[in-house]
Amino acid sequence: MADAARQVVLITGANKGIGLETARQLHAHYRAGEGVTLLIGARDAQRGEAAAKELRDGGADAIFVRLDVEDQASIAQAAEQVQRRFGRLDTLINNAGWLDYAREGVASTADIAAMRKTFDINFFGLVATTQAMLPLLKRNSEMGRVSRVVNLTSILGSIAEHADVNSSIYQAKFLGYDCSKAAVNMFTNHLAHELRSLGIKVNAAHPGWVKTDMGGPNATLELAEGAKTSVQLATLGADGPTGGYYHMGVHMRW
Ligand SMILES: NC(=O)c1ccc[n+]([C@@H]2O[C@H](COP(=O)([O-])OP(=O)(O)OC[C@H]3O[C@@H](n4cnc5c(N)ncnc54)[C@H](OP(=O)(O)O)[C@@H]3O)[C@@H](O)[C@H]2O)c1
Repeated sequence: MADAARQVVLITGANKGIGLETARQLHAHYRAGEGVTLLIGARDAQRGEAAAKELRDGGADAIFVRLDVEDQASIAQAAEQVQRRFGRLDTLINNAGWLDYAREGVASTADIAAMRKTFDINFFGLVATTQAMLPLLKRNSEMGRVSRVVNLTSILGSIAEHADVNSSIYQAKFLGYDCSKAAVNMFTNHLAHELRSLGIKVNAAHPGWVKTDMGGPNATLELAEGAKTSVQLATLGADGPTGGYYHMGVHMRW
């Protein structure tokens, strides 16, 4: 079982990009305090082990956990592993994501199979992972600790932004991805509503347009900036908000 004071944080899709950078920043955040055990969720064992080792080489307490959000059995095994080893979870960061630029396209021609895959990863996988980890988050709350769920969404999931001709994303339409992130926003709202009385913080994070494999080289934010919103929401205290949709501390339009 984990050291009673130590934070235990699970990040999905943590082998690269914003997920891995979030792990690095959480290690730095907690280093001087109670400390954090970083559970590095990844669908590929080699990539996940490599990321966990890179973090350990940097002084972090990081453990690879195989977790493919498209595979219910791997989600259940990951939850069992966390239960056996720690018995609780302070924070779940649902970071794993997918965008098929070539096939999702515009509304009139978007490929249905491509959109289903995007929904499987971005929405159903996120919901299934959260449901499997909830007993561990609830146990953590029962121990008087603050539990948090951080759902990686996007400004592209905002209908208000898509409807505003002056919005920076007005021309950026990826039907499957945008709808999947709008669904993540709705899940965030519903779960926060359900868990409010338990004090579990459930929020959605828009990281910004970030230079990753998904964001591409023309993105406006470096990785270090792109992980900040996830880190802010993953370190909320008991007085922190729930049921919100944030970018760098600012509430977004739904
Ligand atoms: N970059 C941006 O500009 C931007 C903007 C808004 C929102 N976001 C969101 O931020 C999150 C992180 O994105 P990123 O830019 O860091 O993307 P990324 O570099 O492409 O990383 C995506 C991560 O998700 C993992 N993943 C994909 N399918 C998975 C599955 N079935 N099971 C488990 N993990 C899976 C990938 O694993 P593999 O390495 O195995 O493929 C990878 O670790 C995503 O939710 C994304 O939608 C990003």
